[in-house]
Amino acid sequence: MSLDLFDLSGKTALVTGATRGLGEVAAKALAGAGADIAVCGRNPEDLTRVSTDIEAMGRRAQGYQLDVLSKDKVAAGVEQIVADFSGIDILVNNAGVNFRTEVLEYPEEEWDRVINTNLKGYFLVTQAVAPQMLAQGYGKVINVSSIMGTVALPQLLAYCSSKGGVDQMTKVMALEWAQKGVRVNAIGPTYFETELVAQLRNDPERFNFITERTPMGRWGQPEELEGTVIFLAAPASDFITGQTIYIDGGWTAW
Ligand SMILES: NC(=O)c1ccc[n+]([C@@H]2O[C@H](COP(=O)([O-])OP(=O)(O)OC[C@H]3O[C@@H](n4cnc5c(N)ncnc54)[C@H](OP(=O)(O)O)[C@@H]3O)[C@@H](O)[C@H]2O)c1
Repeated sequence: MSLDLFDLSGKTALVTGATRGLGEVAAKALAGAGADIAVCGRNPEDLTRVSTDIEAMGRRAQGYQLDVLSKDKVAAGVEQIVADFSGIDILVNNAGVNFRTEVLEYPEEEWDRVINTNLKGYFLVTQAVAPQMLAQGYGKVINVSSIMGTVALPQLLAYCSSKGGVDQMTKVMALEWAQKGVRVNAIGPTYFETELVAQLRNDPERFNFITERTPMGRWGQPEELEGTVIFLAAPASDFITGQTIYIDGGWTAW
């Protein structure tokens, strides 16, 4: 086997929510495997910081303010990225939010924010990027889902609903494009130490619950996402589509 199967030289990746957390890790992992990166997010300072880091790795990188809640901004941003990079080969849908409370107290505006970011946002960005992938007959879409797409915990009403939706969206897109060169897969991380889960990380009771619930007995470290992201972006996974790969220390094996 040749390591060329994992080589992303000459490819361009668009990563949403790349300004911190798992999105930043994914963007840098893809750059490490050779890809140029369209770094997407909302915060201009973070866009510059991540792009500068990637350029220091010897890759081309450019930051784009791309709020996934706005169809117009997504369309304009994707058009600009296609023009700047002459195409997009890899899309990582990652921008996500969460809000925790019990079902009867769950505010409608928080339901809308979580579903519109985590589920509709993935749809809008993919709908904007895919025509160009289909036209070139090649593309890799990686949807960052969660173990919460298939298991559940109390207080995660909109989050679990959105991630279950992402897993199903992944399958529908994969089926529609299976004979057109565009592969669509998801990754399902368990708890990784990022800002999104900082509150849980700092709550000893919940921290211990998550640690003990995980067969490997610990949380994920951001760099443990890298291999799966590169694999799904690379030729090594060309016969895989419509799948969710769990990166969860065994959580979903219970
Ligand atoms: N961390 C975990 O344990 C874990 C586990 C399973 C799955 N995940 C999934 O992994 C993904 C990333 O999570 P994370 O832990 O890295 O979260 P994070 O550290 O909070 O980062 C979230 C990213 O999404 C961006 N974002 C949020 N709303 C956006 C919007 N409307 N438009 C564009 N960008 C937006 C944020 O940018 P701003 O700076 O502009 O807010 C930030 O770059 C999410 O889909 C999450 O569900 C995380």
